[in-house]
Amino acid sequence: MSEPKKLYVKTYGCQMNVYDSERMVEALGSKGYVQTDTPDDADMILLNTCHIREKAAEKVYSELGRFRPLRDANPDLKIGVAGCVAQAEGEEIIRRQPMVDLVVGPQTYHRLPEMVDTLAEGGRALDTDFPEEDKFAHLPKTRKAPRGPTAFLTVQEGCDKFCAFCVVPYTRGAEVSRPVERLLHEAQDLVERGVREITLLGQNVNAYHGAGPDGTEWGLARLIRRMAEIDGLERIRFTTSHPNDMEDDLIAAHGDCAKLMPYLHLPVQSGSDRILKAMNRKHTAEHYIRLIARIREARPDLLLSGDFIVGFPGETEADFQATLDLVTTVGYGQAYSFKYSARPGTPAAERPGVDQTEADDRLQRLQALLSEQQRAEQDGMVGREVRVLFEKPGRMPGQMVGKSDYLHAVHVDGPETLRGQIAPVRITASASNSLAGMLI
Ligand code: 5AD
Ligand code: SF4
Repeated sequence: MSEPKKLYVKTYGCQMNVYDSERMVEALGSKGYVQTDTPDDADMILLNTCHIREKAAEKVYSELGRFRPLRDANPDLKIGVAGCVAQAEGEEIIRRQPMVDLVVGPQTYHRLPEMVDTLAEGGRALDTDFPEEDKFAHLPKTRKAPRGPTAFLTVQEGCDKFCAFCVVPYTRGAEVSRPVERLLHEAQDLVERGVREITLLGQNVNAYHGAGPDGTEWGLARLIRRMAEIDGLERIRFTTSHPNDMEDDLIAAHGDCAKLMPYLHLPVQSGSDRILKAMNRKHTAEHYIRLIARIREARPDLLLSGDFIVGFPGETEADFQATLDLVTTVGYGQAYSFKYSARPGTPAAERPGVDQTEADDRLQRLQALLSEQQRAEQDGMVGREVRVLFEKPGRMPGQMVGKSDYLHAVHVDGPETLRGQIAPVRITASASNSLAGMLI
């Protein structure tokens, strides 16, 4: 057998890209590539890119520039760009950066083995189609290699919502759900390889409507309930969701499906009805607040996470105040907030923007409030007993780190044999980004 070739993959952006990168490594495994964690001696470098916010493409070009010395030292080094920037920029990437040999969009990476053949023949390969076939069905069957205790599983891709600021419907395409049986098979396989917690992924995961084994369409709640029957799978999470797809059964599952964790990422983006309308979110602040109340009724200890955008075109100080009010009313244990950035090709990009100094100031004020809430939620864990799934050793000798049901990082003094185990822990202290505890 010939020497394995080394593949270095750098992943940007969302968890879906993390999942895609793993699948690309598997697809290239069939061509003799094994993953390496440094670009220095790689035979192929693959950037799996994200296009969600500004300057994404510029960042990719400057990152590519940094690989020039490696390419000069090794003319056989192959360089590829994958993901959403590849989808959006296509051929432009090769035009601007002739060093790039391969451009592959998020929907076509199952064709990587053939693309690598093209490279071996001295050609370049570009594929940013939205093909009819299901890429997951065409990927090599998963290896039986052991895995860590947590894994992502993409169940749905794409988005039909067309929020006025977002590129996702253009880069990832229309909503497509994977069939139930294939997902159950993949989940079972992950569990056999040591996985205890699966996070179901989708750009709009709660809009999941996959073909069920009984010939009917299954929603996300039904998929979760069925997956919860897999022995050895202890925890299920899902991300990311749209408020309008939060159906009754999914709300109920938060109360009666013990394996579904009490953590929900449910972005609202703004607390102003005027801005929500301009964003094409198709719901009001009141609708969201009532929805959260219903979910908390089902699961009172739910930790809520969200996404916010400040400085959306037309946002006034009063609109921004409405966002602060919503945050105060709802209360978030975790959140992501961004300054609006115009994405070419999206409807909002055509509208006059908000003063940038004002937008920066709003972002700071929102982040101050969100951090305060996050810290209070974390501090409130001190003294409580939580269940922790241990993932790896901590930074200090003799320490192990894992995640609580609420997704807080928790470290304890304990043996390495805890890895992959769920154990009860009494929380003793709250630091800036993690909790400390004692095994009970
Ligand atoms: N500008 C700023 N933030 C954005 N997001 C999506 N598009 C933009 C944009 N153009 C944020 C949203 C979304 C998260 C993944 O990224 O809050 O929920
Ligand atoms: Fe983008 Fe809106 Fe779809 Fe989320 S729901 S991916 S923000 S268009």
